[in-house]
Amino acid sequence: MASQVSSLTLDSADKPLIRALRGESDMPPPLWLMRQAGRYLPEYRELRQQAGSFLELCYNPVLAAEVTLQPITRFAMDAAILFSDILVIPDALGAEVRFVEGEGPRLKPLRNSGDIEALRLDRIADHLAPVYETVERVAAGLPKTAALIGFAGAPWTVATYMIEGGSSRDFAATRGWAMDDPESFQRLIDILVAATVDYLVGQLRHGAEVLQVFDSWAGVLSESEFRRWSLGPMKAIVDGVRAVFPDAPIIGFPRGAGVMMRDYAVETGIDGISIDSATPVTWAAKALQPDCTVQGNLDPLCLLAGGARMTDEITAILEALAGGPLIFNLGHGILPATPPEHVAELVGAVRGWRP
Ligand code: CP3
Repeated sequence: MASQVSSLTLDSADKPLIRALRGESDMPPPLWLMRQAGRYLPEYRELRQQAGSFLELCYNPVLAAEVTLQPITRFAMDAAILFSDILVIPDALGAEVRFVEGEGPRLKPLRNSGDIEALRLDRIADHLAPVYETVERVAAGLPKTAALIGFAGAPWTVATYMIEGGSSRDFAATRGWAMDDPESFQRLIDILVAATVDYLVGQLRHGAEVLQVFDSWAGVLSESEFRRWSLGPMKAIVDGVRAVFPDAPIIGFPRGAGVMMRDYAVETGIDGISIDSATPVTWAAKALQPDCTVQGNLDPLCLLAGGARMTDEITAILEALAGGPLIFNLGHGILPATPPEHVAELVGAVRGWRP
């Protein structure tokens, strides 16, 4: 009988983050922060030195699990996000990803459709096995109220890194390719959809309870491009994952997509939408929350500043969005210069808030 389940084990469904993604509006809301494991934490910087390169850390299950749990230990967040990177997928496909200290990622850029055909979908499982081991270790070590979030980059955002060979200001090569030769670009997106579904299903199989897909550069696309290269592939990913795990809670983050976020939320079938800091919260309450749990959206610069500037913004977000399902978060990742004390202050302000 269900009532005989030990009171010591908290079923996934009772975790605050998962309740919010099922549409409950418990207040104060569950809370976690994008990039909550990272350089702003002294314990991360120390462990990162032991690991060698950033990618070596991503593929080291013992250390990656420890880094994943650092912000949980320090701040008792409602979720742990797997410590990895969106670029492990291009790395698995053969793009020779490196992270250059102080500069960012470098990849062997795709130059033509032949380079796309040379990508190696067959390497994914072996290459990503250490990440699955990290997921298992975190799942075993997580406090019982915290949920484990697995993640991947969205095909459009990952494609920009693969074509530009790293970070970019204007994504000219990627957008030019998509305009000049949409068939071969579609082929790249299809490969990335297949790899991403595989990877996300693998994370769920090994103990992830929620998924988030990061489309960090969705905001540079026109309406028709957005539909084809961001919304469409996300729907394919959601459908692919749900064919294996019909109830998997999924959060989308189409950063900068503005009013297109409404169609994205409704048409992809996601449970939660992560909104960037430029998205008005009063608009999100009306346009998004009736259909979708909203996650967001404190400006990472407010967290860097701390004090009243931060707490006033936190209150405004909570007041606007408390009437529906909400997950408190930032509008983008924590900045490396953020004092950890400000994160503690944020956690106190959100947890102490009452409607
Ligand atoms: O705590 C977490 O959020 C989990 C881990 C995580 C990382 N990257 C670790 C990381 C997650 C979810 C990501 C996602 C990611 N990676 C995105 C999407 C979200 C976003 O920020 O828009 C993107 C675009 C990337 C690609 C990437 N990774 C870049 C451009 C860089 C270099 C810039 C930088 O911040 O250094 C990274 C490196 C990276 N990913 C670090 C961390 C902790 C810093 C590496 C280091 O320790 O030196």
